[in-house]
Amino acid sequence: MSNPGSIGGLTVAWRLNAAGPFRVLRPYRNVEATAPCRTSIPEVSKQSRVALVKLAKGGRMPRLIVVSNRVADIHSSNAASSGGLALAMGGALKEEGGVWLGWSGKAIDEDDSPPHFETVGKVTLARIDLSRCHVDEYYNGYANRTLWPLFHHRTDLTAYEQSFRDAYLDVNRTFAHAIRSFVQPDDVIWVQDYHLIPLGRELRALGVDNRIGFFLHIPWPARELFVTLPQHADLVWSLFGYDLVGFQTDKDLKAFCDYFETELGAQPDEDGLMDLFGRRLLARSYPISINPSEMVELGRSENAQESFRRVREGNAGRKILLGVDRIDYSKGLPHKFAAFSRFLERFPERRGTASLLQIGQPSRSLVEEYQDVGDELVAEAGRINGRFGKLDWMPLAYHTQSYGRDALAGIYRAADVCLVTPLRDGMNLVAKEFIAAQDPEDPGVLILSRFAGAAEQLTEALLVNPYDNEQCAEAIAQAIDMPLTERIERWRTLNATINRSSLSSWKEDFMHDLRASKDGRHEAAAGVFSF
Ligand code: F6P
Repeated sequence: MSNPGSIGGLTVAWRLNAAGPFRVLRPYRNVEATAPCRTSIPEVSKQSRVALVKLAKGGRMPRLIVVSNRVADIHSSNAASSGGLALAMGGALKEEGGVWLGWSGKAIDEDDSPPHFETVGKVTLARIDLSRCHVDEYYNGYANRTLWPLFHHRTDLTAYEQSFRDAYLDVNRTFAHAIRSFVQPDDVIWVQDYHLIPLGRELRALGVDNRIGFFLHIPWPARELFVTLPQHADLVWSLFGYDLVGFQTDKDLKAFCDYFETELGAQPDEDGLMDLFGRRLLARSYPISINPSEMVELGRSENAQESFRRVREGNAGRKILLGVDRIDYSKGLPHKFAAFSRFLERFPERRGTASLLQIGQPSRSLVEEYQDVGDELVAEAGRINGRFGKLDWMPLAYHTQSYGRDALAGIYRAADVCLVTPLRDGMNLVAKEFIAAQDPEDPGVLILSRFAGAAEQLTEALLVNPYDNEQCAEAIAQAIDMPLTERIERWRTLNATINRSSLSSWKEDFMHDLRASKDGRHEAAAGVFSF
């Protein structure tokens, strides 16, 4: 809950701190409210113009231009991944080539920069540095303090601040101008995730008439919660700048359609086509996946063998329960720790026979709610170890580190059970990577939250409600005791599911529909539209 107030010319918002016996008001943020971010559109420098000419000349095949908040490290398939999006886009672009534009991750004292270009194999990376103010108000602000908590149903953590929204629109405009400076008529533009919802509309306003698709990597929220967002209708309308909008699951698509039906009285036809505001939008679900063969390959690497050996030797004679998550309140980590604690309480005879290894990848650490969950986990891990630990057994090992994907492949394979128990999650590729990394002769068991997008496909996992401590504790016991024949049977079905819908087929399905969508769209209405 936040409560704006004013102290000595500074605006502060107060947040109720629910931790501890008293609910204490403490400053939520402290910025000059009347100083909006500067919004000049960056000029493309001479050096960049030379790069742009080269880009345009580089063979006149229609290019794929991927746009996402962050451009990941594409140099190696082994880079520690900071999430499913980076993994998916890196993989998709390496196959087909193209341009990947996004924020460099740098905050600079000046205004936003024009893109810096770098070519790696078939991929040209175009990175934009953002002003400190934009990093604070767009990335830490509207993206991660407004849309992220809201779309993950945490209205209690959602900050509704106009300056955040202004900065969000500014950065989308900066990205649109950068793309317009090098886009060619046949290029197909594929925009990723909640940071860039209005980008399609901004591009149309600049006269960009290419096919433009959008994919949302996180869940679409329930209508009742979504309408708490000031200007929610504008955000939805801006999606009509796209030809195709993709969601992770049928559930998300349904929630999106529910908004249209209830708020606007509009209904998509049976193909997912919506006609509104003089434009036609196709909305469908495309569950994202991994390339399982790549995981199998990584599992053969030296680093994988080494991490496998170390995890097994460090837990000799014990069952290994594993968690791999970004440190994020949506991942349900305190609930997972509580479930493990309950498991040790309920089954005292199991103490000393199993350990939980939780890898927490640091994430968005400038956002206070992320610091809070990190602090809570350290304290909780200490409490569990203090309460149950013995001289020769530490129940819970909590590492706040990011491992390379090759090392992770070995860690997945070493585990007997993987707990993927988010409170709400777009898809969750850890669940799929764990399955792909298993030994077919002796596979581990996946415990999966019914609130992860992956649960729509991975129905042979042990599906749990992460809020239900007792059920999760029982699922841990069931997973540990599961006979080999059942483990193999479940794993085969799960692995077949993953192999049926790989990352490559995800990309191909989306691109196929995006390319096909142009023919059906209202050409006359393709230009600027505003509300
Ligand atoms: O999957 C959602 C997502 O926000 C992706 O867009 C991103 O790659 C990942 O989580 C990690 O987030 P961030 O870029 O904020 O570290």
